[in-house]
Amino acid sequence: MASGDPSSDGFVLWTRLAVSPLSGDGRGGMPARDVEVDWQVSTDERFSTIVKSGTATARARDAHSVHVELNGLEPGRDYFYRFRSEGRLSPAGRTRTTPTGETTPLTFAVAACAHYEHGYYTAYRRLAEQEPDLVVFLGDYMYEYGPSGYTALAGRVRTHTPGKCQTLADYRLRHAQYKSDHDLQAAHAVAPWLVAFDDHEIENNWAGPVSSTGAPGFARRRAEAFRAYYENMPLRRASLQGAVLKVNRRISWGTLARFHLLDTRQFRDDQACLDGVRAGCDDRLADKRTLLGAGQWSWLEDGLRGSTTRWNLLGQQIMMAHRDYKVGPGREVNLDSWDGYAAERTRLLGSLARTSNPVVLTGDAHMHHLAELKTDFDDPDSPVVARELVASSIASDGDGYRDRTWISEALQENPHISYIDQRRGYLVARLTRDDLSVDFRTLDYISRRGAKAKTAHRLTISALTGAAAAGQAGAPRIG
Ligand SMILES: [Fe+2]
Repeated sequence: MASGDPSSDGFVLWTRLAVSPLSGDGRGGMPARDVEVDWQVSTDERFSTIVKSGTATARARDAHSVHVELNGLEPGRDYFYRFRSEGRLSPAGRTRTTPTGETTPLTFAVAACAHYEHGYYTAYRRLAEQEPDLVVFLGDYMYEYGPSGYTALAGRVRTHTPGKCQTLADYRLRHAQYKSDHDLQAAHAVAPWLVAFDDHEIENNWAGPVSSTGAPGFARRRAEAFRAYYENMPLRRASLQGAVLKVNRRISWGTLARFHLLDTRQFRDDQACLDGVRAGCDDRLADKRTLLGAGQWSWLEDGLRGSTTRWNLLGQQIMMAHRDYKVGPGREVNLDSWDGYAAERTRLLGSLARTSNPVVLTGDAHMHHLAELKTDFDDPDSPVVARELVASSIASDGDGYRDRTWISEALQENPHISYIDQRRGYLVARLTRDDLSVDFRTLDYISRRGAKAKTAHRLTISALTGAAAAGQAGAPRIG
């Protein structure tokens, strides 16, 4: 069970029934008939005051998943929820409506990339223990590979369900396996999530309609992976639009902040120069190349221009800062990241320069990064438009390591990046009108259970106000 996409008067409650989650057909051991599920929402953990309740139908054709969209609740407060079906009662989850107007501080966590084989989900457990108001999850919630399809340095601590995910049944089964993890369950039970997918929920490095392997039948595979993703996530019904899964959306937290969730995968042009980390690819600079697609671009522009909140937080998947992977002369960039769509990045940074206190939140990299986003990364005097906070992975790439030589070379090569950490972890940020304070949380290992989480790095960003906030680059504020 989980909750997500909070509004000022509601949220989505999600559950999926499975008596035998790992049954091979992806149906969780459920019968072919629909099943009724009762749900309750309370203002207290003991459910002594039930404020909403009802019955939903878990349909067999939806893999017995349930999405209940609530409204009519009070803004800015905790609620508790639970489900009951066929005599079984679920544990209780905590969720929250967004506030209206001036608000108390917001504590939110940022996480990404949770390869199940690579380690235990202790990072999810530690995140849950911090009891954030909101969890922002930026992609690679699950991985499509078969057993050992992608092995971490530290090997694997547990094994994926058989085979690479190709069919609806495969994806449903894989989601069920991930959701069976108790640490992940704890992280869902603590707060509403804002989720967006990246590549591995479907296939490594896919781009729009194009499979990275060129295998036929990708349109069908993508549609089935989207369906399974929707069935297993606390998303609103409106997000599944036929073969399109719409996850770019906005959530406002009173007048304090607006989250702009992006989809940097579904509407992009194919990667330039055959993808990968490469040197000498001029195509990546082409003006017409798009990462967001025309529709999402104008939606984002409108949202940034029309935003009246103090802070604007962009949640998106891939590294936005330029990153040169080659030590010394010459340059190698990751063509799957914004470096492969450089002209659109420059246009977006131009828009962010006219936006009130923009901060970019990113996943994908499997390492913490703290970067300054600049309109010209090669010019040390180019103004800083926004900070980018990249959350390391929950589990992908296993224990990680601290190769200080490698890190110092990477930092030297990229002077706009001030911190890199290759260990597993997540971010916890506290946001007030005046400051965004970010803890980069790390764990020393995940190949065994029980690691503590530590704050390896902390940063406080002060809000710019008035004219300064309106345009760090000197531009007047629009809207
Ligand atoms: Fe990943």
